[in-house]
Amino acid sequence: MAKYLFRILRFNPARDEKPYFQEFSYEASEKDSVLDALRSIRDNLDPTLAFRYSCREAVCGACGMVINGQITLACRTILESLKSQVVVIEPLPNFEIQKDLMVDMTPFWKALREIKPFLHPQPEIPEKGYRIEEKQMERIYQFINCILCGCCYSACPVVARGQGYLGPAALAKLYRFVEDPRDKRSFSSWAKVDRPDGVWACDTVFRCHEVCPKNVRPADGIEGLRRKLVVEKIKRLFKKEP
Ligand code: FES
Repeated sequence: MAKYLFRILRFNPARDEKPYFQEFSYEASEKDSVLDALRSIRDNLDPTLAFRYSCREAVCGACGMVINGQITLACRTILESLKSQVVVIEPLPNFEIQKDLMVDMTPFWKALREIKPFLHPQPEIPEKGYRIEEKQMERIYQFINCILCGCCYSACPVVARGQGYLGPAALAKLYRFVEDPRDKRSFSSWAKVDRPDGVWACDTVFRCHEVCPKNVRPADGIEGLRRKLVVEKIKRLFKKEP
């Protein structure tokens, strides 16, 4: 066990107050995760502390936050890995704070709703089932690991400019499906990301790669979409396809 000083950003927009840091001096095991510590603080010191979590195993994506300046998941950040007895915890940037460490992810979900990140298969399922070649699988495999935690969105400098950018996660998810040979969505349905706040907005500074807790490289997907768009548009010039 070791003594830690947790400095946690508190903010309740329902009250007429400004965000402030509250300090909690707390003894915790070095092997505990930051999420364990937050739960313990909430249970033993302050039941009003608000944060989100569910799986506690880096699967649900609910516990994204900023820990000692790093955007990451609280459930996979072990206290001893921080190499500091002072732990500063803040909500994800690029989102409105709902309360304390909980943020309003509405714009993130809105972009995903627009993208429709699920399989649009052909109506008839082939008798022998679907087969995907290994090479095709390699192209999309990393994007399957995305848990929609919003870390990439909150780190993205283009999202920070507030001009309605769809964001790295939604675009990478779209690439994952348009590259999937089983997906039969029409070109016109996915080409709507061919716009200044869509696939062309990315500045390719790769902050999304740095913060992704699942080692996804969303900008690879965005580049893939750009390439695919250009190729498809050239094809259509000659074939006069819709
Ligand atoms: S609690 Fe599910 S990802 Fe952290």
